[in-house]
Amino acid sequence: MSEQLPVPTSVDGIPVVARPRMTVIGTGYLGATHAVCMAALGFDVLGVDVDAAKIARLSAGEVPFFEPGLQAMLVDALASGRLRFTQDYAEAGEFGDVHFVCVGTPQRKDSQAADLSYVYAAVDALAPHLTRRALVVGKSTVQIGTAQALTERLHATAPAGTDIELAWNPEFLREGYAVQDTLAPDRLVFGTTSAWASAQLAAAFRPVLDRGTPLVECDLATAELVKVAANSFLATKISYINAMAEVCEVTGADVNLLAKALSFDDRIGGRFLKPGLGFGGGCLPKDIRAFAARAEELGVGQAVAFLHEVDAINVRRRKRTVDLVRELAGGSLAGVRVAALGAAFKPNSDDIRDAPALDVARMLHEEGAIVQVYDPEAMDNARRTYPELTYAESMPAALHGADVVALLTEWSQFRTADPEMMGWLVAHRRIVDGRHALDADAYRAAGWDYRALGRPLLPRTVELTASAADEVDLATALAIAEDALAATR
Ligand SMILES: NC(=O)c1ccc[n+]([C@@H]2O[C@H](COP(=O)([O-])OP(=O)(O)OC[C@H]3O[C@@H](n4cnc5c(N)ncnc54)[C@H](O)[C@@H]3O)[C@@H](O)[C@H]2O)c1
Repeated sequence: MSEQLPVPTSVDGIPVVARPRMTVIGTGYLGATHAVCMAALGFDVLGVDVDAAKIARLSAGEVPFFEPGLQAMLVDALASGRLRFTQDYAEAGEFGDVHFVCVGTPQRKDSQAADLSYVYAAVDALAPHLTRRALVVGKSTVQIGTAQALTERLHATAPAGTDIELAWNPEFLREGYAVQDTLAPDRLVFGTTSAWASAQLAAAFRPVLDRGTPLVECDLATAELVKVAANSFLATKISYINAMAEVCEVTGADVNLLAKALSFDDRIGGRFLKPGLGFGGGCLPKDIRAFAARAEELGVGQAVAFLHEVDAINVRRRKRTVDLVRELAGGSLAGVRVAALGAAFKPNSDDIRDAPALDVARMLHEEGAIVQVYDPEAMDNARRTYPELTYAESMPAALHGADVVALLTEWSQFRTADPEMMGWLVAHRRIVDGRHALDADAYRAAGWDYRALGRPLLPRTVELTASAADEVDLATALAIAEDALAATR
C-alpha cells in the first residue's frame, strides 16, 4: 500500500468507516467495472443487479461484455473472497457502508430526455433496507436536480432517515479503457452536502487519491453538471471537425490536413479533432440530448441550443457515409454487395448502443444493398438488435465478393489489414474509410478506389498524430492499470 492520506475517524462526532464495505447497484459496463476494480483495490464489494442472468454470469467469473483486462480481474476478485454478486436488496442494505448507484439512464422512448426510472427504482428498492448510517453515491449520468430529489426520497423512506446521506461522483470512464480509467482516473469529482459525506467518500477512494489523483469537491448540482458538460464539449469538438468536413466536401479541401494543421495550435489541440463517421454509444448522444431537454425545462434552453446542431451534424455523417458508398457503387445500392467492417460504436468495445456503424449498415440494407457485417467482438449484440442484417463469421468472409468495403469501426485488425490481400477477396477494389483510419496512398497504390468523408477524390495521406487521432495504446492502458494496482499492494 502506498502512502495514505489520513482519513479522519470521525467528522463532527460522526464515525467515518476507514475501509467501507461497498455495494455497487447496477452491474453493467460501469457498475461491473467499478465493482471489480474496487475489490482489486482491497475493498469488500457486493454487486447488485435486477438481471438474474447477469448476476449468474458475473458470479461464475464471466464478464457479460467485452472490456480489455476486466475478465482476469473478475476471476481474481471472486477468488479473493472480496467480491460477490446478488439480486437481494435486503442483503445490500445490510452489507454496505457506501452504496454506489450505477444503473442505466438511457434516452426516454417518447422524448429526448433521460429516463431516470432505473435510478429511482434502484434507490426505492434500497431505501427500506437502510437501517443504519450509510452513504449512497450516485455514479450514473443524471440530469441536474436528480440528486436533490433522491435525497428527499431517501430521507422519507429509509428507516435510518437523515442518517442516510447522498453524494454524487460522476464517472468519466471510457469503454475499452475502463479498467485504467477506474484505477487511475484523470480526476475525481465529489459532490457532497456535508463534511462527513466528503470524508466517507474519500475513504472509499483512498487508494486512488493516494496516487495523487486530482480531486474536485463541489455541491451536488455541479457534480451532476460536470459529466454532461464534459460530454457536451467532447461531442461539440467531434461535430466541429465534421462540420468542417462538410465544408471540405464542397470546396475540395482536405479535412485531415485541416485537422492536422489545427492540432498544432495548443489552444485547440488535436484530441477529439478526428473527422469521420461521428460519435455514438451509450453516453454522448443521449447525454447531449438529455442535457438540452433539461436545460429547456430549467429555462436556459438557449444556452445549449447549439447541442441540437452538434447532434444534427453527427447524424448527417451517417447519411453521408451511405451516400459515399452509393457513389462508389455507381449511383444505386440495389443488389450491391457491401462488406461492413465494424459494428461496435468504437474499437475495443462490444457496445452497440447508438452505434454509427450499425446505423450505416441498416441504411445500406434498407436501400437494397446486400450487407455483410463483421466485428471482432460485437457480433452477438448486433445480431440480437439488428436481426435483419447478415453477419459474416470473419473479416475475409465479409470481404468475399464485396463490391464496396465500408470501414465503420476502426478496430486495429481492420486498420492494419494488407490492402493487396484484401483486394484478392473482393469483387471490386472500392473502399469508404468511414473513420479516416487507413493509409489512403497504400490503398490507391494497391488499385483501390479510396474515399473518405471530407476528403477530395485524391487525398494525400496524412498521419494524424497520436494526439490528433485520440488513441491510447491498449497495452499502455493496461500497464497503467497494473501500475495503479501494484501501488496499493
Ligand atoms: N458505459 C460507459 O462508458 C459509461 C461511462 C460513464 C458513465 N456512464 C453512465 O453510467 C450509467 C450506467 O451505464 P452503463 O453503460 O453501465 O449501463 P448498462 O445498461 O450497461 O448497465 C446498467 C445496469 O443496471 C441494471 N439495473 C437497472 N435497473 C436496476 C435496478 N433497479 N437495480 C439494480 N440494477 C438495475 C441493469 O440490469 C444493467 O445491468 C449510465 O447513467 C451511463 O450514462 C456510463
